[in-house]
Amino acid sequence: MTRAMTIPALKAAWKTPLARAESRRPLAGRLALVAAALVAVAVAGLGESAGPVLAAEDEPVIARQEWSFSGILGHYDRAQLRRGMKVYFEVCASCHGMKLLKYRNLGERGGPELSPQEVKKIAAEFEVLDGPNDEGEMFERPAKPADAFKSPYPNDQAARAANGGALPPDLSVIAKARGIPSHALFAPLAWARDILSGYQEGGPDYIYALLTGYRDEPPEGFELAEGMQYNAAFPGHQIAMPPPLSDDLVEYDDGSPQTVDQYARDVAAFLMWAAEPKLEERKLLGIRVFVYLLILAAILYLAKRRLWARVPH
Ligand code: HEC
Repeated sequence: MTRAMTIPALKAAWKTPLARAESRRPLAGRLALVAAALVAVAVAGLGESAGPVLAAEDEPVIARQEWSFSGILGHYDRAQLRRGMKVYFEVCASCHGMKLLKYRNLGERGGPELSPQEVKKIAAEFEVLDGPNDEGEMFERPAKPADAFKSPYPNDQAARAANGGALPPDLSVIAKARGIPSHALFAPLAWARDILSGYQEGGPDYIYALLTGYRDEPPEGFELAEGMQYNAAFPGHQIAMPPPLSDDLVEYDDGSPQTVDQYARDVAAFLMWAAEPKLEERKLLGIRVFVYLLILAAILYLAKRRLWARVPH
């Protein structure tokens, strides 16, 4: 008896504010809101293509690439990470450090997943400074899996001195530190669009575009400063990094093409893993949360039906 009394009372209490809200924002109003959001997203999409037109030739155009790690089910391609690692060690490591990584990270789950022997072998190729020993002196020894990646230069000044004054940035998290630049006017809309569409690959898209963006000759009328290279993807188009890649530079043993295009793709994927080593775990957790919420919603719906079954409403 009490139950039958309280539930309709509850219902009445619920209905009044709900009904009031309904009348304040009728269906047409809500549809208009959704339409406005869609237009915003579409304009953001336009922003990307309208940007270069608005900003003449100054805005670099960077195309989106296909990556195995994009989308809800995205995951790294182990073979690609290993190839990218090889490109990094054989080419980029002579100028760029990755000091946030340890050699042992290369053997962890979700990455290139090298065997402990392979990790030891790679680490042992580098000499690191250790000490002091019993005589109070520092000494060099082969690196161990627990050591951080060895940087090519002892400090930033030495790095600049060796590169004509330009500093080759540490590449540990470069894939997160860079993205596809958009015209300032459209930037907030572009962010909204990227969040809604789940786009997170701006970093590797930029790195790929940068590594394949060198041109032998700058376009007519472009003044290139001494020692600089023309690059279509780099902001301002003048970069101090000489083109690091050329065909057949790095030997692949899995039959993948030994081209600049493939090297650029592989090393961009490797840098993405370095910047986000837990990407696979994160995406898997997202799926689990979705499934959990779906099951919870179903149970709550069934419980609601049962509770209200004998109440006229
Ligand atoms: C000969 C030395 C050298 C090599 C080899 C080299 N780089 Fe660079 N890199 C530089 C320098 C110098 C800069 C800074 C350029 C500037 O500020 O104009 C740079 C800048 C960069 C940047 C940052 C661009 C930006 O948006 O600021 C990235 C990314 C990069 N290099 C990636 C790579 C990758 C990947 C490789 C290997 C395939 C590589 N580099 C090989 C010297 C090098």
